[in-house]
Amino acid sequence: MSERAEQDTVAVKVENRIAWVSYNRPEKRNCMSPKLNRQMLRVLEELEFREDVGVLVLTGEGDAFSAGMDLKEYFRENEALGIGAIRKSQREAYSWWDRLRWYEKPTIGMINGWAFGGAYGPLHALDIVVASDDATFGLSEINWGILPGGGASKVAQELMPFRKAIYHAMMGENLTGKQAAEQGLVTESVPHDQLRDRVLEIAEVLLKKDPNALRATKWAMRRMSEMTFDNAMDYLIRAQEALNGMGGMAARKEATKQFLDDKTFKPGLGAFDA
Ligand code: ACO
Repeated sequence: MSERAEQDTVAVKVENRIAWVSYNRPEKRNCMSPKLNRQMLRVLEELEFREDVGVLVLTGEGDAFSAGMDLKEYFRENEALGIGAIRKSQREAYSWWDRLRWYEKPTIGMINGWAFGGAYGPLHALDIVVASDDATFGLSEINWGILPGGGASKVAQELMPFRKAIYHAMMGENLTGKQAAEQGLVTESVPHDQLRDRVLEIAEVLLKKDPNALRATKWAMRRMSEMTFDNAMDYLIRAQEALNGMGGMAARKEATKQFLDDKTFKPGLGAFDA
């Protein structure tokens, strides 16, 4: 097929408050070109504050999640142009991964197939990640003579037990979705034909939670990884107090009333009626 226009490198569908965002270069196994990276940032920005979007799902069209960075358009063509072009294309990629990591709304990864190298950046940025049992994960960098840059080795080191991560990075052997779940790279894996239903189920639970509390919770979980225990305790007090100013106190009073007085819900078993 002829070259895809920049705006067609990402597909978006909003349905029942869920934004389904897909890498849309299946003919190139959804590898990340500069065009795709620029378009993905635009799409994320456009969806982030839309009233009709409560959860964002990232997946890939066809049989790949993403085959990592585009070896032609991201690496070879920019390297031919020099350091300015290299830095620009790195910033375009890293900026949408970073935006996704600190997204205002909950995000779910639906890993439907190949996930290599550069794809580990978005993988780590997503809050909850469900893989198909037979998806394929690989730090293939070692197979073509580079190290897993763009954060990929840091992602493996952060998410996986050290012995598994260093083996994964050095050996260039792939993991199935099932193995990736066992080793902490993704949240869980399910049979391929149940992937979408499971993601939908998670999204529907998230849509029932208080959005401000969800945002504060996901950001706290990320921020705390670099804090001492004392700093985390202090941060959490301040984050809850900030949340109170965003309607958190009223939500808490209402939930407490529904539990203690009305006896219409149990916080241990589900969300209150907002
Ligand atoms: N960069 C550029 N083009 C790619 C990439 C990539 N990362 N991955 C796939 N493509 C292209 C192929 O060149 C091919 O293009 P063509 O049709 O114009 O020849 C097309 O996508 C289809 O790829 P095939 O290799 O034919 O697909 P197949 O299903 O047989 O294999 C697989 C899929 C295993 C994912 C293979 O394409 C592959 O190994 N890709 C590279 C994976 C990788 O190592 N990525 C880089 C990680 S390192 C990093 O991101 C920094």
